[in-house]
Amino acid sequence: MIDLSTRYLGLELASPLVASAGPLTGRLETLARLEDAGAAAVVLPSLFEEEIVEASREVHRVLEAGTESFPEALTYLPEPPSYDTPPDRTLRLVAEAKAALRIPVIASLNGSSRGGWIRYAGELADAGADALELNVYHVAADVETSSADVEARYLDLVTAVRDAVDIPVAVKIPPFFTSTAHTAMVLVKAGADGLVLFNRFYQPDIDLETLEVRHSLDLSTRASLRLPLRWIAILYGRIDASLAASGGVHTSRDVAKVLLAGADVAMSTSALLLRGPELLTELRDGLVAWMEEHDYDSVAQLRGSVSQRAVPDPEAFERASYVRIIRRYTDEWVL
Ligand SMILES: Cc1cc2nc3c(=O)[nH]c(=O)nc-3n(C[C@H](O)[C@H](O)[C@H](O)COP(=O)(O)O)c2cc1C
Repeated sequence: MIDLSTRYLGLELASPLVASAGPLTGRLETLARLEDAGAAAVVLPSLFEEEIVEASREVHRVLEAGTESFPEALTYLPEPPSYDTPPDRTLRLVAEAKAALRIPVIASLNGSSRGGWIRYAGELADAGADALELNVYHVAADVETSSADVEARYLDLVTAVRDAVDIPVAVKIPPFFTSTAHTAMVLVKAGADGLVLFNRFYQPDIDLETLEVRHSLDLSTRASLRLPLRWIAILYGRIDASLAASGGVHTSRDVAKVLLAGADVAMSTSALLLRGPELLTELRDGLVAWMEEHDYDSVAQLRGSVSQRAVPDPEAFERASYVRIIRRYTDEWVL
């Protein structure tokens, strides 16, 4: 009997299969399907601070409408309508998902102001989330902002949220730091219980007919897996935190790879959108079959066995691999 259990953010999970934030985790009906198909935990779609600010402006605008036109309107209080704002919806989803599911529910927050991060992190925790994922989406486009400034901002944010909530906190980071390994270590020292590698930054394109900038959302392919695979292999055993692979997990072989590299869990959004929640059953069965074939009894046994933990100098290792691969390619083409 293969033991698929794993630990993520201090939570005991039945398997390493986690449905990451996306449309399927935003509705109770699909959350239940994800659980039935084998998700060991779910990450709800992020609560975006901009949406909250926008919604509260709208509520304010509606309540204020007409108060300037007629003096008597200043004392007139309309029947308060029920506003279903993004924070209400997300907080309700957290509570309802907790009540409906047996698996851990991880809430996700994308703040923009320091106060917003702290306040909404607290609200999501109070709503019953088992853990919190900080979806930090920051494109450092200001020429005056240095990489040290960006890292300091991340550090400040993690420290502040860590102080504000008692539940485990994961940080979903981008792959674009000058020194990813150092930043990861600093965030863990600041209190992050886990890192999600990586956040996917959507990249704009240009429409050559209309000359407009096109913002399209492309789902990932298996090729995206290489990025989390490398960094998980590097970080495994070097930082004291859970590691989640996000980006390009489409098949059970991809799950096996990220676990071998050292991930505690494999997250998936695009593949589940393409193939439906039931893909999770296929991922679990395929993982079990692969483990049986390769004589692994448990996820714990296989985790990190192809990491860079035993590599004394990962920088030299990466460079040597680069030189070797370029040489081999060139030699093959010359012949
Ligand atoms: C339609 C869509 C919506 C997403 N919404 C969120 C979100 O609300 N918060 C978040 O942190 N990530 C979000 N993501 C990113 C995914 O959680 C995931 O990190 C990313 O898609 C890479 O994983 P994948 O290759 O399995 O898709 C979204 C992705 C997609 C495709």
